[in-house]
Amino acid sequence: TPADAIRNFCIIAHIDHGKSTLADRMLQLTEVVDKRQMRDQYLDRMDIERERGITVKSQAVRMPWKTRSGEGEGGDFVLNMIDTPGHVDFSYEVSRSLAACEGAVLLVDAAQGIEAQTLANLYLAMENDLAIIPVLNKIDLPSADPDRYAEEIAGLVGCEPEEVFRVSGKTGVGVEELLDAICEQIPAPVGDPDAPPRAMIFDSVYDTYRGVITYVRVVDGRLQARARIEMMSTRAEHELLEIGVISPEPKSGKALGVGEVGYLITGVKDVRQSKVGDTVTNARGPAEEALPGYTEAKPMVYSGLYPIDGSDYQNLREALDKLQLNDAALQFEPETSAALGFGFRVGFLGLLHLEIIRERLERESNLDLISTAPNVVYDVTMEDGEEIEVTNPSEFPEGKTRAITEPIVNATILTPSDYVGAVMELCQTRRGTMKGMDYLSPERVEIRYSLPLAEIVFDFFDQLKSRTKGYASLDYEPSGDQEADLVKVDILLQGERVDAFSAIVHRDQAYHYGVKLAGRLKKLIPRQQFEVPIQAAIGSRIIARENIRAIRKDVLAKCYGGDISRKRKLLEKQKEGKKRMKNVGSVEVPQEAFIAALRTD
Ligand code: GTP
Repeated sequence: TPADAIRNFCIIAHIDHGKSTLADRMLQLTEVVDKRQMRDQYLDRMDIERERGITVKSQAVRMPWKTRSGEGEGGDFVLNMIDTPGHVDFSYEVSRSLAACEGAVLLVDAAQGIEAQTLANLYLAMENDLAIIPVLNKIDLPSADPDRYAEEIAGLVGCEPEEVFRVSGKTGVGVEELLDAICEQIPAPVGDPDAPPRAMIFDSVYDTYRGVITYVRVVDGRLQARARIEMMSTRAEHELLEIGVISPEPKSGKALGVGEVGYLITGVKDVRQSKVGDTVTNARGPAEEALPGYTEAKPMVYSGLYPIDGSDYQNLREALDKLQLNDAALQFEPETSAALGFGFRVGFLGLLHLEIIRERLERESNLDLISTAPNVVYDVTMEDGEEIEVTNPSEFPEGKTRAITEPIVNATILTPSDYVGAVMELCQTRRGTMKGMDYLSPERVEIRYSLPLAEIVFDFFDQLKSRTKGYASLDYEPSGDQEADLVKVDILLQGERVDAFSAIVHRDQAYHYGVKLAGRLKKLIPRQQFEVPIQAAIGSRIIARENIRAIRKDVLAKCYGGDISRKRKLLEKQKEGKKRMKNVGSVEVPQEAFIAALRTD
């Protein structure tokens, strides 16, 4: 296909504003999927995504479309719709999907208005110079208020309210007009057809049968089937076994030219060999310079993952290995905990990523897991200048430190104006610094804060939702590191540290954390033959203390004179209980107590 007839676009939308429904309607109108084949949400492949209604992985579909005006190319176009992941954790993947497009459909629910996430992605699209087509969706809803929200969107995009499209993905109203507008308003891709090929990877998915399927957008030149290709970040070479387009199933072809979007198969078995953002070129006669914007996926949040049943350790390792084939951002290494046994320290892009991985492990591999409280990555500079990266609080270095830095994010919060006070109060208590505030309309406000990521990781979103009756939305992006007065709080049982409960917190929060956990453990740990102190400490300084009182009688006391079989039974039972006991010093703690303490929040 000549580049002039190609239109590459994505849909920017908040969760539930109807992206999948609109995409499905487009597939149907362009006759890529017929009515009979149509199942709801064709594009969301994974069951877990379908159930939770979130889109995690991006994908691209090619659709032919003939405009009714017939202008330009005789009105015959090829549309490539690139699906973008909808959640903050995957913002790098979003940025690569946007970079593969010349235009974006900004899709907003006509009964809800724009949300923080949409706003963040809209800004990203504008920075990438994409043509923006503003669209109000769900106009069939009785509660839709398109006039009001057209005004809001027009203000943001810089167009007239009348220029905002009004559609319903459900009934199909306005969708043909929208497809025409995509052809007419989004520019054709520009590239040098005679240059050595350069294609950007915007997604890469592991398939059990075919190995890694890599989605690319060709910028310059031609990628040809059977050619030897090279990944520019690693200089690794592969043979291009298959090349083609998705429409909506894979269709293999001979080549992909300037502006085209499609897939590659090289037989590699691991998505880390085909990284999002990387540039594909020919091994013979390679391009000189890679396309801009490549960065390594770097975990932002770490958590310990332990099997509740210790004999599942090997299964957990295998399950993690398997997931890693499909997830270049997932990192893990073995770890042992006195409290929880053998497990792994796992790095994630963010909290949703953590939740998804955990759920997939539990569901797909049938594992029962416990995870330690998530923490961010701290950089510690020791007095002697040595720098240490801490991904596990219990490994926080002893000794004098010169400085500790923590990751900071720029957060955008959208809220009804009634809740501005409540949102600001929350951000202030979470060590936030206000960066700005704009009224999108008299009722809706955009508030910008700089916040430590650690504070967001810790139940920020739940708090935000509950303080705004669920109306506020949040988006954030990393914005570097900042020094902070942080300390490690340890929890001691009879003087012994319980590693799973060590946490790095701001000095002002240390006492609160210590009291809370000591209190919680006191309730959960059964009484022993002797008194057990539970202490919270910063270094050698105790900041909080609780006591578990001793029990007086031993289990056999009440059996004096009783029959021997009953006594044996009791001893038997006690032995069984012991199997699941963990010893912390001389204190026996049922593993359940640790698990329960980590679970409650
Ligand atoms: P994520 O995949 O979670 O990002 O959601 P999405 O944006 O893809 O939304 P989806 O298409 O799953 O639609 C969300 C809900 O809105 C579903 O219950 C749809 O049936 C409904 N919906 C989507 N489009 C329309 C529409 O035009 N009109 C009405 N009335 N409902 C719609």
